[in-house]
Amino acid sequence: MANTIFVSGATGNMGKEVVRQLIAQGVQVRAGVHSKEKAGILKEMGVEIVSVDLNDVKSLQTALEGVEKAFSLSPLVPNLAELSANFVKAAKLAGVKYIVRASGMGADSPQAITLGRWHREAEKAVESSGIAYTLIRPNSFMQNYINFAAHTIKSQNAFYFPQGDGKISLIDVRDIAAVVVALLTKGGHEGKAYTLTGPEAVSNYQIAAILSRVTGRTINYTDVPEAAARQGMKETGMPETIVEALLELSAIIKAGYTGAVSPAVEQITGKPPISFEQFAKDHIRFFK
Ligand SMILES: NC(=O)c1ccc[n+]([C@@H]2O[C@H](COP(=O)([O-])OP(=O)(O)OC[C@H]3O[C@@H](n4cnc5c(N)ncnc54)[C@H](OP(=O)(O)O)[C@@H]3O)[C@@H](O)[C@H]2O)c1
Repeated sequence: MANTIFVSGATGNMGKEVVRQLIAQGVQVRAGVHSKEKAGILKEMGVEIVSVDLNDVKSLQTALEGVEKAFSLSPLVPNLAELSANFVKAAKLAGVKYIVRASGMGADSPQAITLGRWHREAEKAVESSGIAYTLIRPNSFMQNYINFAAHTIKSQNAFYFPQGDGKISLIDVRDIAAVVVALLTKGGHEGKAYTLTGPEAVSNYQIAAILSRVTGRTINYTDVPEAAARQGMKETGMPETIVEALLELSAIIKAGYTGAVSPAVEQITGKPPISFEQFAKDHIRFFK
């Protein structure tokens, strides 16, 4: 039991990949699942599944019982810091000894945008817990192009963001998971915080060129005005606070603040991070 590692958000981008890679290493995993109907793939992987609600400390405490190490994240919601504090409360009650906490690049910046400030508050709950921890701060995920752009790439050979020609040192979620797994299984990084990025900064125009090369079709990026992006996001039913927080993120991408490249992935995993070209080749089925 003590060797079991708990994974938050196990049906999401990072959590699912962390589970997959932990299992590949023969680690016993307990997957924290919010909506049971999304747990199918985890059941196929054969992991222990527990129901959790980050709003409910008791459910988290039960899920963490007998666990020494845990991966913690909050979904993108305005009270994500409160959810982190709930996780910490439960982890203390359950006797967890080590937490790897995911936030986002720039959370530690004095000029942090709203998202960064939420994440920094979430990190502080972990830092003040008395439990050993490591913080990871990934930049935007390459997988966002599957989740938010593949649909129009397939139907219109085009994708749309209000990000100008700003460059982003995008990271593949597989690299984030590899870091999380190394931290959880090897140790030695307690009390540290790492910014995680891919190997290079690319603009959406460069991404369009890469996707065109990989798919053999011409794919265009359109730099849409902020107002159009706002309208589009609102139409999906996204809460207004989240819409505004994401527009702020796009604004700093456009202004050129998200291109810094960090050496941390290779330092921690021993392997260079995956390029966007490799990501596109590995996920070509989503763009064809
Ligand atoms: N996308 C990016 O480029 C990026 C970059 C840096 C940082 N981040 C940060 O990464 C985090 C999101 O991670 P992700 O993309 O891996 O996750 P995700 O794919 O958005 O999925 C969120 C996960 O959290 C679960 N969840 C939602 N509400 C919950 C609740 N009340 N209790 C327990 N679990 C709950 C979801 O389950 P259900 O679906 O069943 O609710 C799902 O498994 C956010 O904090 C975001 O700010 C994202």
